[in-house]
Formats: sequence, C-alpha cells, structure tokens
Amino acid sequence: MNSLCRNVSLTRSLHTGRVLLKEIPRNLKGKKHSSQLWLERQLRDPYVEKAKQEKYRCRSAFKLLEINERFKILNPGLTVVDCGAAPGSWTQVATNLTNANGKKEGPVGRVYAVDKLPFYPVEGATVLGNMDFTNIKTQETLNKLLQGDKVDVVLSDMAPNASGIREIDHDNIMLLAYAALRFALQISKAQSTFVVKIWDGGKMQQFEQNLLKFYSSVRAIRPDATRDESTETFFLARRFKGLKTS
Ligand SMILES: C[S@@+](CC[C@H](N)C(=O)[O-])C[C@H]1O[C@@H](n2cnc3c(N)ncnc32)[C@H](O)[C@@H]1O
Repeated sequence: MNSLCRNVSLTRSLHTGRVLLKEIPRNLKGKKHSSQLWLERQLRDPYVEKAKQEKYRCRSAFKLLEINERFKILNPGLTVVDCGAAPGSWTQVATNLTNANGKKEGPVGRVYAVDKLPFYPVEGATVLGNMDFTNIKTQETLNKLLQGDKVDVVLSDMAPNASGIREIDHDNIMLLAYAALRFALQISKAQSTFVVKIWDGGKMQQFEQNLLKFYSSVRAIRPDATRDESTETFFLARRFKGLKTS
C-alpha cells in the first residue's frame, strides 16, 4: 500500500486519538521526521476526517466518489473489477453504488476486489487479498469467478511502493497500468469503462494514445482529493470499442 493510504490500523488509532490531538504535536518523540510530517498532514487533512465520519477505510474514497459524481460510471447492477483495492475504500464506494451489497431495491451488482496485500472483507464484494494482479494466476482466478461474464467497469488505483525517484516510480506504475489495461481489454463488455491511476511522466502521453485505440473517449482527471504534492492523474476511458474477433 503506498503512503497515501498508509496502514489503516495506524490511521484508525490516530483517529481515535484525535480528540486528544487537536493541536499538531510539536515533538513526536521517537518518530522519524518523515513520520512526523505524515502525521501532521493527516491531522490537517479534511478528507481524512471526512473518511472517518463517513466510515470509509481511506481518504481515496473521495477520488472515486468525485469521478462518479461527475461522470456517473457506477450504477446499480453493474459488474466491477477493482485492482489495487486495499484497504478497500474504492471497494466500499463500488459496492454501494452498484448495489452489490443488496442494500437497496433494484438491480444488484458484483464487485471483485484484488490486492497483493491482505485486506478485510467488504460487504457485498468478493475480496481477493494477498494476490498480485500481475500474476497470471490472479487473473485466472478472476476469470473463473466471472464465469465468462463480461465486466462493466475496471478500476485500477494500483500503485507500487514509491522509491522517491520520479522516473523509476513512473515506470513502475505504468507497468501496473498496462497490466490493468490488458486485462480490461480481455474481460470488458463493449461500451464499458476503465479508470486507471498513473503518476505523471514521459510514458503518459503514449498511454493516453493507446487508450484511445480501444476507448471512444479518454480524459485525464485530477480529483479535488488528490493531494497538491502528488503527481497522480486518473485516466477515465469510456465506451470500450470491443476487440475484433476474427
Ligand atoms: C493507493 S492504494 C489503493 C487504495 C484503494 N483504492 C482504496 O481506496 O482503499 C494502492 C494499492 O495498490 C496495490 N498494489 C500495488 N501493486 C499491486 C499488484 N501488483 N497487484 C495488486 N495490488 C497492487 C497496493 O498494495 C496498494 O494497496
């Protein structure tokens, strides 16, 4: 899990202690400077507080909520694959909006959530923790679960552990983005949607061009909840053209 969505249990214990931590602590004894900066940022971040209030596992939920608010990609009854899903806030959003948890009347969707880290179940979702998405066995498992059914939305918020070296981190996230795209092309319905996170860099433009070969509309989005210092961009690719089978 990358630092933006760091350790849920740590975040939770910070939340629990927040009543006592109304002021930013000046001296966090025994904490490294980077941990201190991270803690200060968490305490100042309105999305962290909002995630706690709305019972999301992570502030990232608000990125997908905003994308959905603007582009209405998740509806009751849809089938969604969520790649890089831990700790599970996008999965929470997807299960609510597709009604995979069956909490509302009407069509009931399906959500398959996969991450290389273990994570807690999300009601209504099929959670595949401890599974590296780039491993063929993980994709075979997803295919078996889908039983030949095609998917309406593929989400990828996958991110590698950041090295801090921009070019390396960009290359690594592009490998994940291409793995998600290749899989999306195999399992998606015509007219489906693909949302993928990348960190800006030299391979971004080519990736956008590749998306346009397969999707009728592609746009780059930086949700409000993306931190100012982050280089992340989400590509929203819509209306999958389908693969020619001949
Ligand atoms: C930013 S976090 C995802 C947050 C999640 N969308 C949420 O809202 O809770 C990125 C995730 O990508 C996962 N990841 C990175 N590489 C992966 C891979 N090869 N296979 C599966 N998951 C991967 C990380 O373990 C991490 O949990």
